[in-house]
Amino acid sequence: MTTETLAGLMAAARKQLSEAGIETASLDVRLLLQAATGFAHEDLIVMPNTAIEPRAAVLFKAYIARRLNHEPVSRILGTREFYGRPFAVSPAVLDPRPDTEVVVELALKHMRAGRFIDLGTGSGAIAITLCAENPHLEGIATDVSPEALSIAAENANTLGVSNRLQFIQSNWFEQIEGQFDLIISNPPYIKRAENLPPEVKNFDPHLALFGGEDGLNSYRAIASGAAARLAQGGLIVVEIGHDQAAKVVEISKLCDLMLFDRVADLGGRDRGLAFRRP
Ligand SMILES: C[S@@+](CC[C@H](N)C(=O)[O-])C[C@H]1O[C@@H](n2cnc3c(N)ncnc32)[C@H](O)[C@@H]1O
Repeated sequence: MTTETLAGLMAAARKQLSEAGIETASLDVRLLLQAATGFAHEDLIVMPNTAIEPRAAVLFKAYIARRLNHEPVSRILGTREFYGRPFAVSPAVLDPRPDTEVVVELALKHMRAGRFIDLGTGSGAIAITLCAENPHLEGIATDVSPEALSIAAENANTLGVSNRLQFIQSNWFEQIEGQFDLIISNPPYIKRAENLPPEVKNFDPHLALFGGEDGLNSYRAIASGAAARLAQGGLIVVEIGHDQAAKVVEISKLCDLMLFDRVADLGGRDRGLAFRRP
């Protein structure tokens, strides 16, 4: 049996992923090879001829086979970085996206201290980051999915903020009592008929993706329930789809919520909206 080297494995896998039309082939190969072999990024560059243990080579090839099936790297490895911290992900939670980081930033910009609720917490990316970035924030993280809540609780524990977070299974505000200085959500907002890449359609839970026929059902539920749960002077921050700003502003106005700030994503499109009640 011939021994395989780092460079040989990398080149073959890169070719396979590129030929399958995967645009991030080089980056994906590097991350999967590092995970399978335990080598660092620098090792791949300075020691390309290093021989790889057969067991690590088999594991790497299994990872590549999964990537060829369009499974995202974060799902293969079970972890995704969000706001500089590692979050465990499972099939029950949305793979947290860089776009959501700007929505967290919008909330942090306006919140010095207080109590928040994160509706549809998934991996806990938003709620946990708020607590980790600002020690004067505490809150409730909710989800309708108990499996998602258990991943979020595990992440809160690992990232050292579980003393300021409570987890409640709830359909939006149904099981929630009390009032909050911040209501924040990245709800499901994709239209039922939208065409999605296989990485999303086959691997993110559909409960986390689809917001009904027009994609706006979650905003209707959140805006109509918010009045009773928003403290005096409180703030609502939501993530939106890139073409939904006008519609979400309209829905919120019907519930007496006025837009007062917005943030664009890394591609320059509206991604986060902030509302107050006048
Ligand atoms: C787009 S994902 C966002 C996950 C996470 N907050 C993030 O930004 O990565 C939406 C989340 O809302 C949850 N969800 C869907 N319908 C819900 C409902 N009726 N009530 C509460 N949560 C719901 C899903 O389970 C999913 O975790």
